[in-house]
Amino acid sequence: DSLAQVSDGVPAPNRTQDRRQQVTAGPLTHFVNTPDTDPSLPGNREWGARIIGRIATSTLGTDLVAAHSVDDASAVDAIIDDTHAAGGAWGARPAAERAAVLRAAAVEFEKRRGELLEVAGSECGKTLDQSDPEVSEAIDFLNYYADLAEGLDTVDGATPQPVRLTLVVPPWNFPLAIPTGGIAAALAAGSAVIVKPAPQAARCGSVLVETLWAAGVPKDVLRLVHVPENEVGRALVASPKVDRLILTGAFDTAALFRTFRSDLPLLAETSGKNSIIVTPNADLDLAVKDLVNSAFGHAGQKCSAASLGILVGSVATSDRFRSQLVDAVESLKVGLPSDPATQMGPVIEPAGGKLLKALTILDEGESWLVEPRQLDDEGRLWSPGVKTGVKRGSEYHLTEYFGPVLGLIEAADLDEAIAIQNETDYGLTAGLHSLERTELETWIDRVEAGNAYINRTTVGAIVRRQPFGGWKKSAVGAGTKAGGPNYLVGLTDWAPREATQ
Ligand code: ALA
Repeated sequence: DSLAQVSDGVPAPNRTQDRRQQVTAGPLTHFVNTPDTDPSLPGNREWGARIIGRIATSTLGTDLVAAHSVDDASAVDAIIDDTHAAGGAWGARPAAERAAVLRAAAVEFEKRRGELLEVAGSECGKTLDQSDPEVSEAIDFLNYYADLAEGLDTVDGATPQPVRLTLVVPPWNFPLAIPTGGIAAALAAGSAVIVKPAPQAARCGSVLVETLWAAGVPKDVLRLVHVPENEVGRALVASPKVDRLILTGAFDTAALFRTFRSDLPLLAETSGKNSIIVTPNADLDLAVKDLVNSAFGHAGQKCSAASLGILVGSVATSDRFRSQLVDAVESLKVGLPSDPATQMGPVIEPAGGKLLKALTILDEGESWLVEPRQLDDEGRLWSPGVKTGVKRGSEYHLTEYFGPVLGLIEAADLDEAIAIQNETDYGLTAGLHSLERTELETWIDRVEAGNAYINRTTVGAIVRRQPFGGWKKSAVGAGTKAGGPNYLVGLTDWAPREATQ
């Protein structure tokens, strides 16, 4: 079934300002990122309203989920064999041809932007302000990896050779950008791909694979499978024919996968516990804005989210900082993505386990600055919460939650703040708000995070400008960064170049 049959279609938004059409410099010298939809352009407000109006009712991708569900291990083996075989011909095609297919896919994603937003809203609760940048990022990955593919001929005097088969296992929290990034990278590097979408984002996965096929990615080179997380899923991960596995998910998932196959060639971006330090030399207005955005964007369900603010010295006792933070948090309008007024949407599943605990129970010394409230019967809609008095070494300090809660912890000085920030097992993103040069330099020297941001949010890395990836337990396997210049090399084998005299 094609999308055209399950949807009456939404036209592409107006993008009269597409800079990619206007630049002339060649690939690799620079890169023009795709803009998000600009609501000030004629027609785009109506376009957005139309998508929001379709959100709760969308059935996009449902048929494809059914058609590509696989529930026995021998069927998985057959798909692996076929895709592995198809990888040979794909890898033998000139890089420029593979790049052309990816660039055509980028154009197709732009055409189907509305449909992609519709399914991300319906299935994963994404508001348009969160999902529209995901489509832009997906398009950037397609175009950027196409550029990189054309530069793969020689890397440090060697010629990277395509591998046959890459398995892509993406998460549900960026159901469009992250799967597309993994698929695009592997295809660009010359590998065939099997993608197994997260069960919570199964329809999103189906719709974007359909979009890639429609643009000319051969169906035998990109396979979609929806498998249960039992022995069938295990057969997929454990197969010795999988040459690379791109995983974005929990550290424990990477560890589990390694128990299925100890020599698994993983490129995994795993968990985080990210924080922002605010010193007395910060622009406090900006710090409040960036903390709120980093903590509560997509209801805090980002690997890059900051769920901890580390307040240095007088910031911790500043009435102005506190009242501004409380006002900003209480001003967030919580609701469903089908309501145009919504600024913060639901969590993916009814809050349970550690998230429910973080939203409802205080540890010793903690108190609510803004107490979260459950707003629906199910437990998916919560007003955002801020807790103060978090203790160093406590569960809250060290645990990732993936929900709308921000904790505040006090530090006597920048040294202590950095120690608190680095004390977690993880190192994905980290932030500092300060306008004082010595503080910035001290922090940059010591911060232990893959993506370290000064005076901005910890979320929303931009392809090529901010390659994204973790440190410590936030990365497993080949730790190259997505959206960065070295990512494709990790998806190839290296062959020494023949000596020339
Ligand atoms: N790449 C995503 C971000 O930076 C996770 O927010």
